[in-house]
Amino acid sequence: MSTTHSDPAAVKAADRAHVFHSWSAQGLIDPLPVAGAEGSYFWDYDGNRYLDFASQLVNTNIGHQHPKVVAAIQEQAGKLCTLAPGFAVDVRSEAARLIAERTPGDLDKIFFTNGGAEAVENAVRMARLHTGRPKVLSTYRSYHGATAAAINLTGDPRRWPSDSGSAGVVHFWGPFLYRSPFHAETEAQECERALAHLEQTIAFEGPQAIAAIILETVPGTAGIMVPPPGYLAGVRELCDRYGIVLIFDEVMAGFGRTGRWFAADHFGVTPDLLTFAKGVNSGYVPLGGVAISAEIAATFDQRPYPGGLTYSGHPLACASAVATINAMAEERIVENAAEIGEKVIGPALREIAERHPSVGEVRGLGVFWALDLVRSKETREPLVPYNAAGADNAPMAEFAAACKRGGLWPFVNMNRTHVVPPCTITEAEAKEGLAALDEALTSADAHTV
Ligand SMILES: Cc1ncc(COP(=O)(O)O)c(C=O)c1O
Repeated sequence: MSTTHSDPAAVKAADRAHVFHSWSAQGLIDPLPVAGAEGSYFWDYDGNRYLDFASQLVNTNIGHQHPKVVAAIQEQAGKLCTLAPGFAVDVRSEAARLIAERTPGDLDKIFFTNGGAEAVENAVRMARLHTGRPKVLSTYRSYHGATAAAINLTGDPRRWPSDSGSAGVVHFWGPFLYRSPFHAETEAQECERALAHLEQTIAFEGPQAIAAIILETVPGTAGIMVPPPGYLAGVRELCDRYGIVLIFDEVMAGFGRTGRWFAADHFGVTPDLLTFAKGVNSGYVPLGGVAISAEIAATFDQRPYPGGLTYSGHPLACASAVATINAMAEERIVENAAEIGEKVIGPALREIAERHPSVGEVRGLGVFWALDLVRSKETREPLVPYNAAGADNAPMAEFAAACKRGGLWPFVNMNRTHVVPPCTITEAEAKEGLAALDEALTSADAHTV
């Protein structure tokens, strides 16, 4: 018997019986059956509509069910659903061209993957083969994916259960003035000390053993910490000095999220490799990839690249990327993200922070914002402890429930909520979501001291 779309009980029952969910204790979760989605909203079978301030997992940059992208997938499905990576395919060529046209500098060759983690795996492999060195440096406050190298590079506690301790990864502290690991009081101090710390880490690890430094250009899940002026240029300079490959992970920050095509565009710094996924086609069909510099690409001109995927450059995924990028350009969607961030979200969040004792700091750009929730603005003690679970996490769980009661689907991570709606969000929708957020924050205020 097949499950009909109008029977939420059957959807739920089959899910609980047969779907094994990511990152979860399977017996402790209660997935919401979703009936549909459009633009900035999705809804359940009971008529509850949610404004998606999380863009799912920060991937629906173009919103749900964009008609041009849906049509492109349908058209491609009618023409050619799949073809092995070894062939030249019109939509794959065009997707690569459109991406290369937008990536900074000479990152002009594209290796396609099915998602972000695979992009990171392949970027690291390219860096190791290009340099002949084993180690990779990444920051503690980071997320790079859940596969072998990617989870070892990840700084947050999701790494711990999979940490092999032998992956060749060394973690260091990136800049984060609000919770400065360097006791800095200004952005300039934070920048200078973070660069000195990185240089010392390189010196003590041995530069000749370091293949790459991988950074989220603007760290996402770990807290949307926009790097201080000069930091990324300083990292670029260190990489050049020591022959280290610089990888920017733009899986979350890329494709309009920060109000530019790539977050790197804000800083005028070009990495040697850039990983992308999510916003490249808003996840309508799984797609990710690595944009590769001319120099690294040349390493594999005569020598085979020892990596591949059956679905590398999948035609349905590439057709949706072509339609997404073209629609984003035609409809000024990246510009919209910048304008809404600057004129609506940023000012409103700063004003919210003044009124709510639980909001310690607001930071971000474009449609990429974090609210750091605290017990006290003075001590900056996080509203819940690092990696809190169960009762310890209750204040954040209550806050998330309050958002949902108000028709807002929030992004919540540790003691933070992120405001990461689609890049297509209108001013009226943003204001609606910000009002619901404002209201829900009173539940967090109740836990301040
Ligand atoms: C910066 C960054 N890199 C890599 C990944 C992993 O991407 P995926 O989940 O598509 O494997 C993510 C996912 O959130 C991410 O935010």
